[in-house]
Amino acid sequence: LKPGPVTVGGVDLGNHLLLAAGVLGTTGASLARILDTGAGGVVTKSIGPVPKEGHAGPCVVTVDGGVLNAMGLPNPSSEFVQELDRVRGRPVVVSIFGGTPEEFSTVAGWFTQAAAGFELNVSCPHAEGYGAALGSDPAMIEACTRAVSRLDLPTWVKLTPNVTDIAACGRAAERGGATAIVAINTVRAMRISTALRRPVLGNRFGGLSGPAIFPIAVRCVYDLYEACSVPIVGCGGVASADNVVEMMMAGASAVEIGSAVQGDVGIFGTIAADLYSPDGIEPQEIVGCAHA
Ligand code: DOR
Repeated sequence: LKPGPVTVGGVDLGNHLLLAAGVLGTTGASLARILDTGAGGVVTKSIGPVPKEGHAGPCVVTVDGGVLNAMGLPNPSSEFVQELDRVRGRPVVVSIFGGTPEEFSTVAGWFTQAAAGFELNVSCPHAEGYGAALGSDPAMIEACTRAVSRLDLPTWVKLTPNVTDIAACGRAAERGGATAIVAINTVRAMRISTALRRPVLGNRFGGLSGPAIFPIAVRCVYDLYEACSVPIVGCGGVASADNVVEMMMAGASAVEIGSAVQGDVGIFGTIAADLYSPDGIEPQEIVGCAHA
């Protein structure tokens, strides 16, 4: 693969690798730091219509194969705009959520000067009134996407794997004017402590991320690639250059990395060095099944 700038779904990126929403995306300083370590773009923590504290703890638990979280979409709402002063002009995609198309449109409106584009979170697996309930209804996906794509900024839509027909969700986003589809958000999951005789998460249910969900993400990317004509951004358990290549062979035009960054903040530099090394994969070996 050639190093250097790429444009994916209307967003100009420094390379094919982005920070996934949530992880380390809560301050302008951490977003700037991740861009400095070699990420081609960053996605912020999701911002909603009103300030939100999130779920009672424990909110994040390490489990075999990944991380289980039920943060509960904590965010400062419109106040977050100030954080983005530190990353003005850089490839920052602002993740937003809401319960209705109007709420999506209101939140997006705060960031039209600061965002290189939006990522609509219609896919949190454990947020009352937001997230997966909305994101498993194609008509709602289409309406929320349209409410934001109207603003004429790149509009990416992040889907949940917790549905039987993710392709139908992708087509709905596309009808609403999505410029790219991001797949996947976390997989709804639960662990119980046999010693404590209670669920490990305060919220009982949460979302699983990390290597355990990588095969699910690859399958979703492939389903969406077959069903949609906008670019697909792969996300879910990516931890190596080989994982990035596999996502691209499934149809991804760019790849987001979340959980793996928590264990290794230098991971973007490491993966980029492998991915773009002279003896790395040739583009023609990938574009056979990905968007050129
Ligand atoms: O797993 C997730 N956790 N996905 C989301 O979209 C939101 C996040 C949270 O804040 O709970």
